[in-house]
Amino acid sequence: MAPKTVLITGCSSGIGLALAVKMARDKQKRFKVIATMRNLGKRGCLEADAGITLNKTLEIRQLDVCDERSIISCINSIPNRHVDILINNAGVGMIGPIECQTIEEMKGVMETNFFGVVRMIKEVLPDMKRRRSGHIVVISSVMGLQGIMFNDIYTASKFAVEGFCESLVIQAALMLACVSSVSLIEPGPVVTEFETKVYEDAENADYSTTDPETADMFTNLYLKNSKAIFSSLGQTPNDIAEHTLRVITATKPPFRHQTNAVYTPMTALKHADPTGALMTDTFYKMVFKYDTLMHISLKAIRVIRWQARKMRQGVKMLGFR
Ligand SMILES: NC(=O)c1ccc[n+]([C@@H]2O[C@H](COP(=O)([O-])OP(=O)(O)OC[C@H]3O[C@@H](n4cnc5c(N)ncnc54)[C@H](OP(=O)(O)O)[C@@H]3O)[C@@H](O)[C@H]2O)c1
Repeated sequence: MAPKTVLITGCSSGIGLALAVKMARDKQKRFKVIATMRNLGKRGCLEADAGITLNKTLEIRQLDVCDERSIISCINSIPNRHVDILINNAGVGMIGPIECQTIEEMKGVMETNFFGVVRMIKEVLPDMKRRRSGHIVVISSVMGLQGIMFNDIYTASKFAVEGFCESLVIQAALMLACVSSVSLIEPGPVVTEFETKVYEDAENADYSTTDPETADMFTNLYLKNSKAIFSSLGQTPNDIAEHTLRVITATKPPFRHQTNAVYTPMTALKHADPTGALMTDTFYKMVFKYDTLMHISLKAIRVIRWQARKMRQGVKMLGFR
């Protein structure tokens, strides 16, 4: 079978980079990867990781999801504009009290995380419809399902993506002659530059425009909890690439796929109680009332994961797979 053309956005680092390399290195040579990034000056890491696949099963192109001209020019550079699988990965984060963020900064997040996805889909969907085949994958987040304190705008951008895709999936299923034409990948925390960038921004931000209580809640409670959560529950970009590849190659790819099982019961709370009280109450208690218990649990998870990693390394060293 001819390899499928896969276009991935945001491949200069993190999940996009890991996924591009994993697909390009596929042993069965099922994919031809167009790994895109907005700034080609950042191609070094991808080139290094791509190794011998570079310019064979992996090509690097410029594409900024906020710039329609760059999207059109990239898609037009692909023979017959033929994209079998579009992976919308490019994204930016933003944390902090909304009083400390400007509307322009908020629009910037929506421009990339929501309109960036819309622009890409608008450009490739008509060709997919004509060919009656194609798969659109979006790297969403558990924050596309559940709001998290001080992530108000980022969460809103991912909710927007989820609503957009949920509305599109039926039409796409009909037109692309396949029920599994749109898939949302919903990771929990992933240790990438994303986390580093948002923490750097948060540490340099000016909190004088909010009240001292909110500023304290953000810096002393949210940031502390968030760092503990990332170090205990965080997955690697490679884990997310693995999950995404499984979804893409499934006989019937799911519409939604969560990568971190720890989050599934939390997101389920919302569906268990339509009033929203169960979810809000649980989060409130977890953060403000039983935070000591939460930190003990996170530490325990960290130790268990460390032991599991060591065990896997030991098994590998003994030559087992
Ligand atoms: N890390 C997490 O905890 C986490 C959790 C759930 C979901 N996600 C989602 O996963 C996706 C990838 O994030 P990541 O964790 O891998 O972070 P990352 O390492 O920061 O990667 C984000 C990528 O998006 C690119 N990008 C940003 N704006 C762009 C634009 N306008 N056009 C094209 N590319 C652009 C970045 O390029 P530059 O290098 O030029 O900035 C970078 O290549 C995002 O959609 C994010 O929301 C992340």
